[in-house]
Amino acid sequence: MTSLKAMRTPLCDLLGIDVPIVQAPIGGASVPALAAAVSEAGALGTIALSWTKPADIAALVDDVRARTPKPFHANILQEWPPEERLEAVLEAGVKIVSLAWGDPGPYVERAHAAGALLIGTAGTAEEAKRFADAGVDVICAQGWEAGGHVWGEISTVALVPAVVDAVAPVPVLAAGGIVDGRGIAAALALGAQGVWLGTRFLLAEEAPLHPDYREHLLRARGEDAVYAADLFDVGWEHAPHRALRNSTRERWEAAGSPAPGERPSEGETVATRPDGTPIPRYSSSMPVVGISGDIEALSMWAGQGIGLVDRVQPAAEIVRELVQEADSVMSGLANKA
Ligand SMILES: Cc1cc2nc3c(=O)[nH]c(=O)nc-3n(C[C@H](O)[C@H](O)[C@H](O)COP(=O)(O)O)c2cc1C
Repeated sequence: MTSLKAMRTPLCDLLGIDVPIVQAPIGGASVPALAAAVSEAGALGTIALSWTKPADIAALVDDVRARTPKPFHANILQEWPPEERLEAVLEAGVKIVSLAWGDPGPYVERAHAAGALLIGTAGTAEEAKRFADAGVDVICAQGWEAGGHVWGEISTVALVPAVVDAVAPVPVLAAGGIVDGRGIAAALALGAQGVWLGTRFLLAEEAPLHPDYREHLLRARGEDAVYAADLFDVGWEHAPHRALRNSTRERWEAAGSPAPGERPSEGETVATRPDGTPIPRYSSSMPVVGISGDIEALSMWAGQGIGLVDRVQPAAEIVRELVQEADSVMSGLANKA
């Protein structure tokens, strides 16, 4: 047994966690119950706040704290001006914050002044170096295999070591396509000090996915998680992404993959939020619990690793299983040496 010791990296001490696994921000599924369950299990849970009103942020942070005394982190996308949300997060005393979809450099000073660590997501080594030079504390290197919105164009296995070399000694989290212990062992072998897993935690019991979306994820193969430059772009334009092939995509491809503005059935309502707000075809809204309508036609975000995930499990069990698998892969490799 190499045990947890082999998995522990300096990043664990920096973030105050037992195992170098981060539950990635997964939009509306990254709720306090999921974040707390992951953190309680010794990894780093996450709440994603990009669509939360700044005034509602303190209550969400309190909700996580009421469930666990352990560290967790808050994520904000820079697609929309992040200032007010960042202020609310820092005022609530969150000590680990991640920014993505932009340059986190301008926010380093503010985060550090509040005593918080800043994680930034990069898609190239050059960008990662720029972020690290600006004082970003941890770099998340997101490879092209990733589910949801995809920042870069380089695969994880090529990106991670390049980023590690570019930013050393700043620690790197590997993201994109990692769903099991084999992937974790591989990421650590590439020089990452931890992993950032989205797709695997989508299938945590605590993630409030619409049951139809969950069923599609359970049945999906890796090749069903397809990339697009701007298919599900209503609400978030010009943002490449990866989601399950579905009827909306089939219809769009059958029409010759036309540009936004010329796609079939644009403006048609395919689903409805609990408050009655319509969700149009091509929306970037994620099918969570409470949404009703043609769930299959919505953006069912998923990474290429989805073909390796076939069960819904409690988040704590996912963390335990990941650690055991990675440990046994690493022991096996050590024994071969
Ligand atoms: C459903 C879903 C929602 C996501 N929402 C966010 C988000 O709110 N903020 C963010 O920085 N990244 C978001 N991402 C990207 C993930 O944080 C992460 O980079 C990605 O899931 C890693 O690849 P994997 O899915 O192969 O594990 C999302 C990904 C998915 C699958």
